[in-house]
Amino acid sequence: MSLTTKGDLHKTVNDAVAASGRRLVIVSNRLPVVLARSNGTLQIQAGSGGLVTALAPVLRNRGGLWVGWPGTIDEDEEEVGPLIKQVSKRAGFSFNPVLLNSREVDLYYHGFSNEIIWPLFHDLQSRCNFNPDYWRSYQEVNRKFARKVMEQVHDDDYIWVHDYHLLQVAKGLRELGCKAPLGFFLHIPFPPLDIFIKLPWRFQVLRALLEYDLLGFQTMRDRRNFIHCIRSLLKDVHVHASGSLHVCHAGAREIRVGCFPISIDFDEFERLASDRDVAEEAWYIHEAHPDQKMVLGVDRLDYTKGIPYRLEAFRVFLRQHPELHRKVTMIQIVVPSRIDIPKYHDLKMEIERLVGEINGEFTQSGWVPIYYVFRRLRKKELLSYYRTSEIALITPIKDGMNLVAKEYSASNIEERGVLILSEFAGAASQLQRFALLVNPYDVEGVAAAIHEAVIMPESERRARMRRMRRGIKRQDVFWWVRSFLSAAISVELVDFPLIYEYLPTAEFIEEGISI
Ligand code: UDP
Ligand code: G6P
Repeated sequence: MSLTTKGDLHKTVNDAVAASGRRLVIVSNRLPVVLARSNGTLQIQAGSGGLVTALAPVLRNRGGLWVGWPGTIDEDEEEVGPLIKQVSKRAGFSFNPVLLNSREVDLYYHGFSNEIIWPLFHDLQSRCNFNPDYWRSYQEVNRKFARKVMEQVHDDDYIWVHDYHLLQVAKGLRELGCKAPLGFFLHIPFPPLDIFIKLPWRFQVLRALLEYDLLGFQTMRDRRNFIHCIRSLLKDVHVHASGSLHVCHAGAREIRVGCFPISIDFDEFERLASDRDVAEEAWYIHEAHPDQKMVLGVDRLDYTKGIPYRLEAFRVFLRQHPELHRKVTMIQIVVPSRIDIPKYHDLKMEIERLVGEINGEFTQSGWVPIYYVFRRLRKKELLSYYRTSEIALITPIKDGMNLVAKEYSASNIEERGVLILSEFAGAASQLQRFALLVNPYDVEGVAAAIHEAVIMPESERRARMRRMRRGIKRQDVFWWVRSFLSAAISVELVDFPLIYEYLPTAEFIEEGISI
């Protein structure tokens, strides 16, 4: 199929999805809400993390079914079911909760997902605990998810499974006779062969992934790593490139593999950032730090986010630039996450020790250099920080995408902010020309970037931010869904010029810098 203009492409993509007329069934470890007991009763909270932020507007827009865990442990259906029904009514799409017991949470969620796949796929194999009990539980819980999906699914639905917790769900669904097409999107990076190969269950994981019909990755690098693993480890599977996709031939099956960088609901962030309450709150935040430039970090508590290196870099900046004391304040927001895993608890201690040390070294009357928040923010509060901060400092040591980078830009409606971004965030391949890219391990380099951002002329800040926002608006989360679903559904393999557009920039990161 040949396409001549961007208009043709949009039309083809929309037609492909609309014509399919399929109901969308999202399957992810978490539902977008978390139920937690407080004073004996179950309370509903919004979930956090990039997956939920990205997918919630998608289903809000199209309707459909979301299958996932509501975060409860050892609760029974009778109490959880009616609450979930209520939330579901308000959300405009259905939820089907998967309930987990404490053993499953320990072995499948904390264990295999977060002590094996999470560190390994972020290139941190020394943090892995390859406990075989974790693997057994992971397979059982993936089968449990598959059974839950089968309760409400029809052959003409499109089943879209998400993220590293559920690598084996397609296998379970096939065993149960599911005929609906199956897609999978990995929100985190896919590691290079020499790291992936350390996984004791590497063959089972690769084979299970090939039970999906379409596999989506965040960046060209992730896709290349995956294809390299398939070519090296599964000699009976043949792979060829076809337009912007790769196709794996496994027996009679064809599995498409593509790169689909996830995004945000740009218009919604822009709209909310313009809200009067947000403007007022932003003003109050800045009033508390008069005549200062605010350098903002927002992260889930996670060792992949590079927070200790970032704090060290800020310390170097303060040491090198005494003339900027009292003129620059760092705001570090850390959202509690996975706190029951010892490595996360240790990280919290390390961050708090560093914040205390740096504040102890530099605080003067009327100025504390690091303002530290450890809690989940309300959405408008978060937007107020995004809107009012002159600089965002986002320096993960490895990250699938990092939506905070895109959210900061979308909310920066005055277009005067500067984004400092790690080369190792998936977002770097799209935003590199407009952000200041840094190597998060290079604390002097990051300190220099903070200085560059602080003194950057307004005209340059505006030019960078305007172009960055334009790009994120054009390739928002709805564009991402359309790209994925058209790759899934189209009979012919359509070329996606919009995805190609990333290539020159992705090449710069992926080929220009040798990592
Ligand atoms: N976030 C949140 N509550 C907060 C702060 C942040 O829900 O108090 C959201 C933020 O809006 C973003 C997500 O958490 O959508 C973080 O996504 P990102 O891709 O940056 O990293 P992840 O947490 O998925 O690793
Ligand atoms: C990342 C993962 C998501 C996960 C989120 C929050 O974004 O890709 O799948 O939901 O972190 O982590 P949690 O362990 O609380 O679900």
